[in-house]
Amino acid sequence: MSTEATQSSALDTLGSETRTFPPPPEFVRQANVSDPSIYERADKDFEGFWAEHARTLTWRKPFTKVLEWEAPYAKWFADGQLNVTENCLDRHVQAGKGAKVAYYWEGEPGDKRVLTYQDLLEETQRCANALKELGVKKGDRVAIYMPMIPELPVAMLACARIGAPFTVVFGGFSAEALAGRIGDSEAKLVITADGGYRKGNVVPLKKNADDAIAQTSTVEKVLVVQRTKQEVAWTAGRDVWWHDIVPRQKADCPAEALDAEHMLYLLYTSGTTATPKGIVHTTAGYLTGVAATTKLIFDVKDHDVFWCAADIGWVTGHSYIVFGPLANGVTGVMYEGTPDFPDKDRWWSIIEQYKVSILYCAPTAIRTFMKWGSEYVQKHDMRSLRLLGSVGEPINPEAWLWYQQTIGGGRCPIVDTWWMTETGMILVSPLPGITTTKPGSATFSFPGVQADVVDEGGSSVPLGQAGYLVITRPWPAMLRGIYKDDERYRDTYWSKYPGRFFAGDGAKRDTDGYFWLMGRVDDVMKISGHRISTTEIESALVSHPKVAEAAVIGRDDPVTTQAIFAFVTLRGGNDSSDALSKELREHVVSKIGSIARPKTIMFTPELPKTRSGKIMRRLLRDIANGQPLGDTTTLADATVVETIRGSTGKEA
Ligand code: PRX
Repeated sequence: MSTEATQSSALDTLGSETRTFPPPPEFVRQANVSDPSIYERADKDFEGFWAEHARTLTWRKPFTKVLEWEAPYAKWFADGQLNVTENCLDRHVQAGKGAKVAYYWEGEPGDKRVLTYQDLLEETQRCANALKELGVKKGDRVAIYMPMIPELPVAMLACARIGAPFTVVFGGFSAEALAGRIGDSEAKLVITADGGYRKGNVVPLKKNADDAIAQTSTVEKVLVVQRTKQEVAWTAGRDVWWHDIVPRQKADCPAEALDAEHMLYLLYTSGTTATPKGIVHTTAGYLTGVAATTKLIFDVKDHDVFWCAADIGWVTGHSYIVFGPLANGVTGVMYEGTPDFPDKDRWWSIIEQYKVSILYCAPTAIRTFMKWGSEYVQKHDMRSLRLLGSVGEPINPEAWLWYQQTIGGGRCPIVDTWWMTETGMILVSPLPGITTTKPGSATFSFPGVQADVVDEGGSSVPLGQAGYLVITRPWPAMLRGIYKDDERYRDTYWSKYPGRFFAGDGAKRDTDGYFWLMGRVDDVMKISGHRISTTEIESALVSHPKVAEAAVIGRDDPVTTQAIFAFVTLRGGNDSSDALSKELREHVVSKIGSIARPKTIMFTPELPKTRSGKIMRRLLRDIANGQPLGDTTTLADATVVETIRGSTGKEA
């Protein structure tokens, strides 16, 4: 592991931005939290702070213990019991908010649905009863592979109601990627749809699910939502239409009282090997963490319309489309498709139409909108917005300022939120009624959370110096492990600095103590905010019969943060043709999904290696980025680099 990624040129400007933005007084006046003493209070007694938040939830059995911490294993509120859906649905309906909108949903073709809390509660219970009829019991795993339609959160909530851990697989993943996740989680049921809409096309979800299930052995039933109405293959006795089984169920399904540490879901994410990790999240601590951060960071109020524009297939959607907002009884927006369908102003028309007050999205989206131009924004009334959020990658000051000015009209605070699939909840972020922000900085750790920047040996680095981000105290929504791989859990996050969580991000704190995140320091790339491992793509490439060797790196990209650049050496006798580069790209797509499609493929007779045979990725990164080459003295064969430099990459 090295700090190479922290030296990427795109990030050089980070930390040199000097403008500051204090919270606007009118925002402070109405903020859910505006007293900075919250930091000190939470720091003095972080367990007490989290217990206070946990007590705002409805418990079946109140907890008496807050935290049991035997590093690296945490249990939060362990002797308590609750049900996530009672907290997300029943208690709001019981409080008379049944008619409040839970989701405004819009399909890509323009179809619309509105679901109130009452609707969502009823549909969740019907679906939960259907799951039971299909043989799903508490503890059984359910894989969910769906487009962004209301049945997706319903399916997740239905699983949570009966205590069946679910694993949502992003609809952009391929059949093979889905098969890996079904296999690892040993899912008994798959919930999918015939298809979903994406950029005017239909994504063949049912077909992918069929292909995936054929490679696995645990699936007994497949529950299928009819979304696009295209023809699909049908396996009698296994496949069941949602509309045949869910509507006829009783809209009453008692919520299971679940132990605080009962597994709520598994979410697979890329690490530094070819196999994704099943990140385990549990019930009460997770809900406490996402409920508290939604309330304090997004400042949600009863009248807000909160649009987190992520896909529910990623952790951002789990925490801030589904569980955090619903736990707070907030109205949310869900949109199925791409931002440029039918035109490049789709998002702004959604904001205008639903009077969205809080928008949460990725810097990659913001940079894309900047590129498209502000005229698309100006066509719409954006005055409903009062708070903006950013997540998933470092946001460059230029994009931050454009977001603030053009989208936020100069009046909305921006919360740049740092967190990961593993952390479950936001850990570093401004509090919009307290924090003076600096464009490009995620500012400070959330109250009760303790973060630090350390050097290779684990000592805190002085302010102003770069190092590795670590979290030095447990937090309630933290991952509880990697499913069925305790060794990898300990190795990946806890072995470098025992007792401290190693995030894998480079960071520095400026002289005012602000955190600046600087990108991954391992072989994990960020492509348009999506997390993809270089090793996963390399392994997909070498599984092609014509490929001898492959090395993948993330090339700096002004819009997508990084773009996938693959160096490929072919087996003897194979041509480095355009047709082959296309074939290899599609091969990677079939193994992982279209998010992993290499942008550039460069065929090279050899890869630069050390004398011990290790591929020198640092050199490849320099070559791909057109930068002067670093130290080449350890190269086994110095001529290799010159040959590669003479080649031209084939762009997608
Ligand atoms: O590198 C960091 C980056 O995203 C990684 C986690 O990716 P994932 O698990 O897919 O979760 C993304 C959404 C929570 C981190 O290791 N990252 C996330 N948020 C930020 C960020 N980098 C800089 N600034 C952020 N605000």
